Amino acid sequence: MNIILLGPPGAGKGTQARILVDARNMVQLSTGDMLREAKNSGSEMGKKVAEVMARGDLVTDEIVIGLIREKLTGASGNGFIFDGFPRTLAQADALGSLLEEMGSKLDAVVEMRVDDDALVRRITARSTCASCGEMYNDHTKPQPADGKCSNCGASEFSRRADDNEESLRQRLMEYYKKTSPLIGYYYAKALLNQVNGLGEIEEVQAEISQVLNNC
Ligand code: AP5
Ligand code: MG
Repeated sequence: MNIILLGPPGAGKGTQARILVDARNMVQLSTGDMLREAKNSGSEMGKKVAEVMARGDLVTDEIVIGLIREKLTGASGNGFIFDGFPRTLAQADALGSLLEEMGSKLDAVVEMRVDDDALVRRITARSTCASCGEMYNDHTKPQPADGKCSNCGASEFSRRADDNEESLRQRLMEYYKKTSPLIGYYYAKALLNQVNGLGEIEEVQAEISQVLNNC
């Protein structure tokens, strides 16, 4: 089963994708994570995208479609979770073609709805384990008091360069201008499912599970 988690920055796409990886042995394909990896590796492409991402703008379609094409051919598992991809109509068309070439298809698009105030609260409080990527939040899931990641025991945590109010404002604008048209695009293909992303993590997870069980 192949699904898209669609939603604005901070909607909980990454959080829910990690749960699905564990629960259903699916493969998470996050273009944001791939681009951050490229940035950390110091590659030419990584250097090129670092500033764009820090500002909160979208990276070019060409780059992200290339990354997805590469990963789609190399990965195996119980289907793909597209997290943060596609983000433009051109990317959505390209994903459709890539899956078709592989003799596969999309089974569902899950739109996670969260209001802007909650997004700002979540994003400005987010941190991640630098070693395993476990996600923390100063309000809802603070880093353990002993300073060690509850998942892997590492003691280094990081915050993203684009998790500040100015970049977040730009990320939200990009979402409303370029990504939200995908809601209509997938509705017209009868693939769209909406879940309330404002609930507790477990409540959102239950809603997503229901969608997938009905596929
Ligand atoms: P990307 O990494 O995809 O970031 P994003 O879309 O801005 O989304 P986030 O990762 O910030 O949020 P999320 O929805 O994953 O939420 P999370 O689970 O972390 O992209 C970053 C940048 O890369 C883009 O701006 C662009 O420059 C570039 N890029 C990436 N893909 C691209 C593409 N396809 N095309 C062009 N450019 C691209 O949760 C957030 C916080 O909330 C966490 O602290 C979490 O613990 C907490 N939380 C989660 N769920 C809940 C809940 N239910 N209740 C309370 N707290 C919760
Ligand atoms: Mg994410």
